[in-house]
Amino acid sequence: METIVTDLLCIGAGLAGERVAVEAASAGFDAICLSVVPPRRSHSSAAQGGMQAALGNCFKGDGDCPDVHFSDTVKGSDWGCDQEVARLFVETAPIAVREMAFWGIPWNRVVPGKSTYFKGGKQFEKIEPASKQGLITARDFGGTAKWRTCYTSDGTGHTLLYTMDNKVVELGVQVHDRMEAISLIHDGETCTGVVARCLKTGKLRAYLAKATLIATGGYGRIYRETTNAVINDGGGAIIALDTGIVPVGNPEAIQFHPTGIVPTNILVTEGCRGDGGTLLDVNEERFMDKYEPEKAELASRDVVSRWMTHHIRKGLGVKSPYGDHLWLDIRHLGAQHIKTKLREVEEICNNFLGVDPITQLIPVRPAQHYTMAGVRTNKDGAVYGLKGLFSAGEAACWDMHGFNRLGGNSLAETIVAGKIVGEKVAEFLQGYEVTFDTAVTRKALVKEQERIDSLVQCKNGKENVFAVRNDMQDELMDRVGIFRNGKDLQTAVDNLQEIHARAQQVGLKSNGIGVNPELSLALKIEGMVKLSLCAAHAALQRTESRGCHAREDYEARDDRDWLKRTLATWKEGESLPTLDYEPVSPTFELAPGERGYGTCKIISCDENDLGD
Ligand code: FUM
Repeated sequence: METIVTDLLCIGAGLAGERVAVEAASAGFDAICLSVVPPRRSHSSAAQGGMQAALGNCFKGDGDCPDVHFSDTVKGSDWGCDQEVARLFVETAPIAVREMAFWGIPWNRVVPGKSTYFKGGKQFEKIEPASKQGLITARDFGGTAKWRTCYTSDGTGHTLLYTMDNKVVELGVQVHDRMEAISLIHDGETCTGVVARCLKTGKLRAYLAKATLIATGGYGRIYRETTNAVINDGGGAIIALDTGIVPVGNPEAIQFHPTGIVPTNILVTEGCRGDGGTLLDVNEERFMDKYEPEKAELASRDVVSRWMTHHIRKGLGVKSPYGDHLWLDIRHLGAQHIKTKLREVEEICNNFLGVDPITQLIPVRPAQHYTMAGVRTNKDGAVYGLKGLFSAGEAACWDMHGFNRLGGNSLAETIVAGKIVGEKVAEFLQGYEVTFDTAVTRKALVKEQERIDSLVQCKNGKENVFAVRNDMQDELMDRVGIFRNGKDLQTAVDNLQEIHARAQQVGLKSNGIGVNPELSLALKIEGMVKLSLCAAHAALQRTESRGCHAREDYEARDDRDWLKRTLATWKEGESLPTLDYEPVSPTFELAPGERGYGTCKIISCDENDLGD
């Protein structure tokens, strides 16, 4: 079998993976990125609205600084984040944004003079001074005290990824695409690379590396309704969990975005609401301003998603063959604004809904969007438990998001963490030598080859892998979603354990070993169910509500007992993860307090009636 040796191996060629590779390559190290798709099709390209950085250049950005960004991020996380990491992040974000400008990002800029903007459906006037002409501008986003989200129309992920990929080419970083890492090579102490499977030929290859980085993004595809691409199926987290050593941090912390379009769940950006769009109910009436008088549609995502769900439960959603939904209204922003600042939204609505958002309402409801959960690292991006293994971006629990990530802090994390972790990886590689143990490598390769042979020859059973996946997705969607309670979570754990047993008895209908989505899914279905069980089991244990984790039976945040991060590992032969806990933050620059929004408790429809 072919073996390739490199200094740094990045699993994933999205923004975080490529940014780390750029840093290592700039320091003179060889770097290879593996990607299941051509790199420019990585899910980073789907990020729309922008990235947060406290530049303070634009109208309503005046007075912004890293301190304000820090406070927004910690409150957004519901005090669940590592505050040292959040501090590092907010201080580096302005540098990272400007660096990206230098590398070619065509950021939207301040245009001096008088113009109008919308907030909550109403029009206001703004004036930008001549002195700010041409500075990087920003738009409003949820849960922020200032307009801080830097953007390129609503294709910010697209421009960032293309620019980063140009840099990768310029520096000679190799990208091996259609290549999937299916296990980590390690001896229980040190990681020395991966076993990867070519998605075209089905052949296995060993990649041996001094440093290995997991940057495979999130794993929204364990849910039925998600804004995530089909490639966001947990590849990186699965191979980490499979070691039995590496923990997934906060597996119960799963974000729902308020505006997935119905029925496909494709994202329409928070920028729609940031730019003044409103949410309407079946009567075409606004409701978020009643629930959240201060922030309305621009409270943080967990809060808005909860109120939307509550409003639908009250019977105020719009009936459709695909279930009840609400409306997003951006008509008042006007054709010119939509065609220049929300043009992906316009295309998505036209192409996937047959709806023209300039004249028509957009059907939306919350859909799974982001995993704050991820491979647990320290603040240098080094993964707990295995030397030589790193992680960055959504794949990682670094942990600047805690229990709710703010919109625009994810794209920012990819390039900020990518820069910081990349520097740390380069430091680690400096003078580092490792012995590649051929017996360890061979054992890993043989194990994977046997797993594939056994699946292809249907040795273990006849379960249909797609049916197993669908049942897992339904279970999470129905019982480990926006609202949770002990009874449903216990049922989810029980049902997922049965699904886990079925996942071990998958038989294939197809027999191709190369391009074969059935085989690809069969190779990771057990891992996907394990991740689902980590989410459900950890959510069941966490008897409080914090950020996205809203327990109907434990409504309050409980800082006395739960100001801690869950660490889930999976020991061989066990039917449930082992859960350990650690303090959320080594220090508290901002002591736990009120977030300033989301204070109205959702108790029941009657008690929270909006009245007339
Ligand atoms: O709504 C959005 O544009 C998504 C941004 C994000 O998830 O950060």
